[in-house]
Amino acid sequence: MTPLIEFKDIYKIYQMGDSAVHAIDGISMQVYSGEFLAIVGPSGSGKSTCMNIIGCLDVPTKGSYFLDGKDVSHMNDNELAEIRNKKLGFIFQQYNLIPKLTVQQNVELPLLYAGLSEKEQAARAMESLERVGLADKAKNLPSQLSGGQQQRVSIARALAGNPSIILADEPTGALDSKTGKDVLDFLKKLHQEGNTIVLITHDNTIAAQAERVIRVADGKVVYDGIADIRKFAPIAHAGDTEVEQ
Ligand SMILES: Nc1ncnc2c1ncn2[C@@H]1O[C@H](COP(=O)(O)OP(=O)(O)OP(=O)(O)O)[C@@H](O)[C@H]1O
Ligand SMILES: [Mg+2]
Repeated sequence: MTPLIEFKDIYKIYQMGDSAVHAIDGISMQVYSGEFLAIVGPSGSGKSTCMNIIGCLDVPTKGSYFLDGKDVSHMNDNELAEIRNKKLGFIFQQYNLIPKLTVQQNVELPLLYAGLSEKEQAARAMESLERVGLADKAKNLPSQLSGGQQQRVSIARALAGNPSIILADEPTGALDSKTGKDVLDFLKKLHQEGNTIVLITHDNTIAAQAERVIRVADGKVVYDGIADIRKFAPIAHAGDTEVEQ
């Protein structure tokens, strides 16, 4: 079976004057279709850099990235944009909804970019909003919704294009714990339905909700295995949110 995501010795190096920052310092990994992976690590460990590469928002300095068997590490911006639109659904901490567009129009946006007819955009957007239980809010503006509802709209937008991978960067970061739990439960449900999910978080207890955890520190993988908090965060207690050394 071909991995959906394959990193082969990936580096991302930022040259800052005389010194080089190794944001990603030689990461290799494989993620298969249907997995629910959490990438966890403290601030500055390289999670967002990793997410940007997985999500084809950025390319590595060195190494190869195969997405669904295709080498995307040397593609130009237009090629990357096309791959993003076809293969990836994004969920961000701050929802990234467009305030002037209705809920439905926000969900339609990636479908518009994908070149679907207006009728198809509307049908798919409504289907997606139904999945997250917000079809009745289709004509509202994002500002008229609660934070949790806005995040569900952004999930609907991520799902609308039927992506191969759902990438979520700190999706519960702006939510209270109850609403955050609802969003995580929804991601779990999507996983049970067969979706591939990559969740980025600094929070061990959130990472523990995934099926597999990759722990990064200083741009390197220091754990890759089952999402057992005693294994991937051995010095943390179950209630801790962060390991600081
Ligand atoms: N554009 C950039 N230029 C220079 N250094 C960068 C750049 N982007 C990231 N870095 C550095 O790379 C390292 C990893 O950053 P990254 O944003 O991936 O961390 P993170 O794990 O997402 O942290 P956080 O949890 O705070 O979001 C950090 O040391 C950061 O300062
Ligand atoms: Mg980050």
